[in-house]
Amino acid sequence: MTTIVKGARVLGGDPADLLLEDGRIAAVGERLSATGATVVDADGLVALPGLVDLHTHLREPGREDAETVETGSRAAALGGYTAVHAMANTDPVADTAGVVEQVWRLGQQAGLVDVVPVGAVTVGLRGERLAELGAMADSAARVRVFSDDGHCVADPALMRRALEYVKALDGVVAQHAEEPRLTVGAQMNEGDRSARLGLTGWPAAAEEAVIARDVLLAQHVGARLHVCHVSTAGSVEILRWAKSRGVQVTAEVTPHHLLLTEACAESYDPVFKVNPPLRTDEDVHALRAGLADGTIDAVATDHAPHAVEDKESEWASARPGMLGLEQALSVVLQTLVEPGLLDWAGVADRMSVRPAAIGRLDGHGRPIAPGEPANLLLLDPAARVTVDPAALASRSRNTPYAGRELPGRVVATFLRGEATVLDGKAVE
Ligand code: DOR
Ligand code: ZN
Repeated sequence: MTTIVKGARVLGGDPADLLLEDGRIAAVGERLSATGATVVDADGLVALPGLVDLHTHLREPGREDAETVETGSRAAALGGYTAVHAMANTDPVADTAGVVEQVWRLGQQAGLVDVVPVGAVTVGLRGERLAELGAMADSAARVRVFSDDGHCVADPALMRRALEYVKALDGVVAQHAEEPRLTVGAQMNEGDRSARLGLTGWPAAAEEAVIARDVLLAQHVGARLHVCHVSTAGSVEILRWAKSRGVQVTAEVTPHHLLLTEACAESYDPVFKVNPPLRTDEDVHALRAGLADGTIDAVATDHAPHAVEDKESEWASARPGMLGLEQALSVVLQTLVEPGLLDWAGVADRMSVRPAAIGRLDGHGRPIAPGEPANLLLLDPAARVTVDPAALASRSRNTPYAGRELPGRVVATFLRGEATVLDGKAVE
């Protein structure tokens, strides 16, 4: 299929036409034409490289009532994504070549984004012995990111061993940094507010202690470490220190940690329960600044769909996690672009270029230029949309943004030149 995108502002620059042909960007220029081409009017729209998520929970296999590879892929495409990493905490856990290949195949069948399976670090996420990392890396799914997300690889000797293995595979350990002995029964950020609300606190030190330990281990081994969902100002400081020392560490922050604070817990609405928890205003500011200056490499959604019965209960028994794919770009627009902390090239870097590099993905995170794969999105930055949970493509409804007006609307997404989203709607 041949498509001409008319008048798109690539990375917010001057309007140009894009010719998409045979899965690639064939030309970028003025007044392009091609016989039989579909024309997409992009007047006023910003073109960005297709987004890449390092951290998506697709829930298949095992919890297809909460999300499937297909419904999550559709949510991703609507959010402007062309590739997502599918987290390993499924049932069964993605700790073998068989399971990661199954997830990868389901992604291919859905065909809406490239679904890149993450492999578990330890068998069953139990933190006892390493999973078959090499077999997962060699499988059709070509796993490069390994994570026990949902759980921390808490044993330092096992973490060291995992780093040694992934180094040989050109992979990376994506650590869910949470010292479990410090978060027993934890419900929200530890501080005055948790004391007042009577909810057990999750101290910042439980995250920071693991990050500090792991950057030292990564340096010792000479391996790559990626830190999932960084949530505290102290974590940003440790990362800044580690990077200044040449440690091969990268980190991500979620949209919700960029926008929301622990004040949301005042409502006792479990939609705001998440792990790590929402933190303080000072943390939010440090996270925005860390993302702006590159200390934090990427925005990753931690899209965590949950069925109604797992989420709509009293706070203490609700599962942690919130949706993110469909609103991530809008939250970044509101928290970083509009305040002038990040320009469009910066958005492309933190939401596409760097995540693709961390995941060692080919064909994503590439410039919008002739010869490159046609993985891109068109955004209307002037639109303002009030989030309606009922309108989401995800099978779950646990969005923390319900009723909130957010800037920006993804108008179109192209995966290898084929529209997966047009006029803001998923292409069937
Ligand atoms: O809030 C969270 N939800 N944090 C995690 O680490 C796991 C995730 C999930 O799987 O629901
Ligand atoms: Zn996690």
